[in-house]
Amino acid sequence: MLYLCNVITRIGEDVNEAISLLKAGEIVAIPTETVYGLAGLATDENAIQNIFKVKQRPSSNPLILHVDSLEKIQPYVSKFPMIFKQLANEFCPGPLTFLMPKSGLVSDLITAGNARVAVRIPNHPITLRLLQLLGKPVAAPSANLYGKLSPTLASHVLEQLGGKIPYILDGKECAKGIESTIIGIEKNEVVIYRLGSITPEDLSRQLGYLPGLKIHADELPTASGMVKYHYAPATSCSYYHSSLPFDATAGYLMFNEKYPEKSDENISYLSRRGDLEEAAKNLYALLHEMDGKGYSHIFIEKLPEQGIGIAINDRLNRAVAKYNK
Ligand code: TXA
Ligand code: MG
Repeated sequence: MLYLCNVITRIGEDVNEAISLLKAGEIVAIPTETVYGLAGLATDENAIQNIFKVKQRPSSNPLILHVDSLEKIQPYVSKFPMIFKQLANEFCPGPLTFLMPKSGLVSDLITAGNARVAVRIPNHPITLRLLQLLGKPVAAPSANLYGKLSPTLASHVLEQLGGKIPYILDGKECAKGIESTIIGIEKNEVVIYRLGSITPEDLSRQLGYLPGLKIHADELPTASGMVKYHYAPATSCSYYHSSLPFDATAGYLMFNEKYPEKSDENISYLSRRGDLEEAAKNLYALLHEMDGKGYSHIFIEKLPEQGIGIAINDRLNRAVAKYNK
């Protein structure tokens, strides 16, 4: 019977418990400042295979290595460009992922056969402590089922992966709320493959130029965030337009409280005061919550195309695209 295959998923704050499980080849959910990750010991190929299986993710879609310091990255890359060291000194620990040529220590399972490996230093005290004590990197995609909403709370992980993993290390709400910015180098210039809370403008202040954007897949996507339909709630969704008639069976995810006369319980606000950082932090949590309310549809207001708003809109475009094929 199927339920006999289920494991019991516990939620707790015990770093040592998470470390023991990782060392024993298990995979566990860990908090980061962006979203929760589904971690396995990077040196354990069985654990890596298990991550793909549990997440139901195609093995062609590579995983990010997570380490606790710049020094720990070095053995896993064959080249660490100076410009990346400068950016890392400025932004790490933080929501920035670097694509660099991999060393022989990195399994092809992690990079899906790519010559480059993605590495980042997450800025969450519990996970930094875990990585420090573990002494080895973990490979971790976001801890959601493939194509579904990313988790920003332990309870979101439980909803999707409960019964499939033994432990969720609870680090409370993720501070940033959307996935890391992913960068690489092409023709000696930094390019962005996934937008995140470190914006092109933030990077340009260090680089002296605005990095190019390569966030749409021409052929095979370099990053899963490039897939056209992604980050979608289970409830159908589309963009809100003020010209549309109000639908009492639908939910409305609005940016700020600019229509106080519409104090309907169907309306949720990403940030009542119109703060884009707050909107990013609340995005997935509100979509998770609205998914549970049985709405016939979710109308989402597009955010101002500035700063982190551009990264949020990029996620929203891919979510609404799923229902508007
Ligand atoms: O904020 C984050 O980056 C979160 C937390 C958990 O760290 N992780 C995350 O992982 O968003 P994931 O797997 O959901 O998205 C990572 C993206 C994927 O789109 C993957 O295709 C891309 O990074 N990626 C990873 N390794 C790569 C590689 N070697 N070459 C190209 N793209 C890579
Ligand atoms: Mg993901």
